[in-house]
Amino acid sequence: MNVQIDQDRLLSEIEALASYSDADPPAVTRIVFTPTDLKARAWLKARCDEAGLTVRYDAIGNTFARWSGSDPAAPVVGTGSHIDAIPNAGKYDGTVGVLGGLEAIRALKHSGFRPKHSIELLVFTAEEPTRFGIGCLGSRLLSGTLSPDAARKLTDKDGATIDEIRARADFSGKLEEAKLPGGYYKAFVELHIEQGPVLERERIPLGVVTKIAAPASLRVLIEGSGGHAGGVLMPDRHDALCAAAELILALENAARSSGAIDTVATVGICDVFPGAVNSIPSRVRLGVDIRDTNLSRRDPVMQALEAASRAVSAKRQVSIGTELLNADAPGDCSPIVIDALSQSCERHGLNFLPMVSRAYHDSLFIGRVARTGMLFIPCRNGYSHRPDEYASPADIVQGTLVLAETLAMLAS
Ligand code: GLV
Ligand code: MN
Ligand code: MN
Repeated sequence: MNVQIDQDRLLSEIEALASYSDADPPAVTRIVFTPTDLKARAWLKARCDEAGLTVRYDAIGNTFARWSGSDPAAPVVGTGSHIDAIPNAGKYDGTVGVLGGLEAIRALKHSGFRPKHSIELLVFTAEEPTRFGIGCLGSRLLSGTLSPDAARKLTDKDGATIDEIRARADFSGKLEEAKLPGGYYKAFVELHIEQGPVLERERIPLGVVTKIAAPASLRVLIEGSGGHAGGVLMPDRHDALCAAAELILALENAARSSGAIDTVATVGICDVFPGAVNSIPSRVRLGVDIRDTNLSRRDPVMQALEAASRAVSAKRQVSIGTELLNADAPGDCSPIVIDALSQSCERHGLNFLPMVSRAYHDSLFIGRVARTGMLFIPCRNGYSHRPDEYASPADIVQGTLVLAETLAMLAS
């Protein structure tokens, strides 16, 4: 089998997909189910049609593009990732796994390989939490990790529900039907940029993921008392933003003092109301993200946030409410997929590093219902979720080649 990755086609498709964006280049912003995301989806469907794949959608817009195997009843070998992008993102997060997956399938077809198991590209809906507050919406529904009832309660910042938004995007059907039937997959493999500095620093071209860290996210609402920035004297204030500042530093301190560098905590959203320079903030909404590979370190940080909320609330006479959005367990990758990835690397004489994924991925949730693994390629300086995110053509091509080999091995 002689598998040739078409570098020019793959790179030009990554560029083309990046042009569907609501930010100025090189930044990419592509929030799920916006007109821009829907145009990108249509463009991608045309590429899948061109490749001779059969495309179907589920009720939440997860997209499946199938190359039928010689035994259509056999469980499927899946690959894929996401194309939604957070505000001010780069062009490689998720897209390398989607377009690399598509190119791997095309390259296998072209090589004359014929799979026994169908090989299917899966483009997950809303891996990023931007619109609905919770990440991996599509894979949570596919895996049954999030119930349809809980999904129906999610809204975007304008108060629109998932049912309203998906109907507008022309995705119909019952959310209940999104859950994959038992035994659907033989295996699932996701190609992704590392989003950290390890591979580049170690000069190792590929990472085979063994474990995915456990994410948790919360919303914190702080309500104090507003007023005139000139008129209200300092002793009389109940400034919600000052309370938020104390809370943010308490969270940072809890993560820093966990005893392990694997503990990370971020406040990435801070909405201040009313947001006028001469008005004391009366209300602040924080978006909090806490992660670790180990729950016995992550969960105490969540508890430290609760304790700090009580203390700051009492000290500053503000009310602080916390809403837990998700607190997921870490995931282990499957030895079968790890072996197939490792063998594929070896076949091509490529060094690889077994490693942990500190970012979360849809594979965390697909891994609950299928044998799942991930392949990482380096990204410059470990940068991700920023416009200067970059992966080299050589690394993208190598990752895609190893992915193709792995899919072939699993689908034979
Ligand atoms: C995924 O985008 C993550 O935040 O890990
Ligand atoms: Mn991301
Ligand atoms: Mn991603």
